[in-house]
Amino acid sequence: MNVCIVGTGYVGLVSAACFAEMGNNIFCVDVNPNVVEKLRKGEVHIFEPGLAAIVKRNNEQGRLHFTTDLGEGLNEADVVFVAVGTPCGSDGTCDLSFVEAVAREIGQKMTTPKIVVDKSTVPVGTADRVRTLIAEELDKRGESIDFDVVSNPEFLKEGDAVNDFMKPDRVIVGTENEQSAQTLKTLYAPFARSREKLIVMGTRSAEMTKYAANCMLATKISFINEVANICERVGANVSDVRAGIGSDSRIGYSFIYPGVGYGGSCFPKDVKALIGTAQEYGYDAKLIRSVDEVNNAQKHVLSTKILDYYEPQGGVEGKVLALWGIAFKANTDDIREASAIEVIKDLTAKGMKIRAFDPEANERAREEIGHIENLEIMDDQDAVLEGADALAVVTDWNQFRNPDLDNLKAKLNAPLVFDGRNLYQPEEMGKAGFAYFSIGRLP
Ligand code: UGA
Repeated sequence: MNVCIVGTGYVGLVSAACFAEMGNNIFCVDVNPNVVEKLRKGEVHIFEPGLAAIVKRNNEQGRLHFTTDLGEGLNEADVVFVAVGTPCGSDGTCDLSFVEAVAREIGQKMTTPKIVVDKSTVPVGTADRVRTLIAEELDKRGESIDFDVVSNPEFLKEGDAVNDFMKPDRVIVGTENEQSAQTLKTLYAPFARSREKLIVMGTRSAEMTKYAANCMLATKISFINEVANICERVGANVSDVRAGIGSDSRIGYSFIYPGVGYGGSCFPKDVKALIGTAQEYGYDAKLIRSVDEVNNAQKHVLSTKILDYYEPQGGVEGKVLALWGIAFKANTDDIREASAIEVIKDLTAKGMKIRAFDPEANERAREEIGHIENLEIMDDQDAVLEGADALAVVTDWNQFRNPDLDNLKAKLNAPLVFDGRNLYQPEEMGKAGFAYFSIGRLP
């Protein structure tokens, strides 16, 4: 099948690469000429495990094409995916101007029937809006060419996106048109072999499914974080509680790891957007508002523990903290809404010096937060420890899971660890002579 994909960010590029891998001919469009130039040479501008190899292979075999010209991509394809950014403000309102601009351009340039697929996460009702904009542009040209707008939300996790695309739990296709549903079934057949994996529904239900899924997952995280905070106060251990409740198959073990709150480009924005959509329609989404509130507070739990620890010693001013992990989670270089940023801001504002290390996110961190006073970003996991007064672990990278405790003790000024991801066991840390603070577990 010939497919055009507009936007070569995480979602667009992963979709393009995986569709090409299944023998489709893919035309990727991006407004950024530097990105297009790099991709033509097979150089991938984002960090996503496994992606570069697939892009390179399909480039070489001629199934992946890159252009800045939407008209060129459109000419070749019957199906056009819109996977451009939808930046959202802190109030949850999303900027749909990129999606709308692409819709208008499609209306201006299409010459044959198209199925336009919304892949970006967009508020409920956006497919209808895209339909209106394309129709308006066709009207201006005095053309009547058939088109349909389908909602096909993505459920990729950063760091595991290729795997999620290749082996999806489900593929949601939102359309009222039987022909469009059939075309997408054909396109997705290699990924969703069993037909129950491909679920067809109305466009608004498909758009809502995306928000409901992310809000449900965010709710699980805020729930366990709240339970962890109560555990600490009543003398319970949240890891035991997690095992105890997760064994109930109705609850399950996944997404109930307590920590420093969820971050990233999806949960925080989608939670706020659904609250905003509900409000727009006159409904107060109380539970989802609380999920957001609990998460905002959770991002400060680790820094509060550190401040409380040093309070009796005259505060954190002049103290040096080694910090492992800046990315919002492991296996990504993404620091959007990362909890580490809040931890860093809280502590540096009080005069603490932070030496931070991340296996992949250092470069991004230097660009985004490198200006923060008292913060130094270093490229060596071991070097940040040298002469620091304590270690704080903020991201759950595998390489932080099993440190050499003797080395840790030798390098730090004091055997003191604040663990925002519960990577270590309190008893073992105690035995090894560390003062150890984690989330929802007593030292
Ligand atoms: C999330 C969803 O998991 C994907 O299904 C969805 O497609 C994607 O958003 C999206 O809407 O595009 P992602 O943001 O990449 O994916 O990351 P997650 O692995 O879901 O983690 C989100 C945050 O929750 C991270 O900060 C992570 O550390 C935190 N988390 C996750 C916890 O604190 N506890 C958990 O048990 C799980």
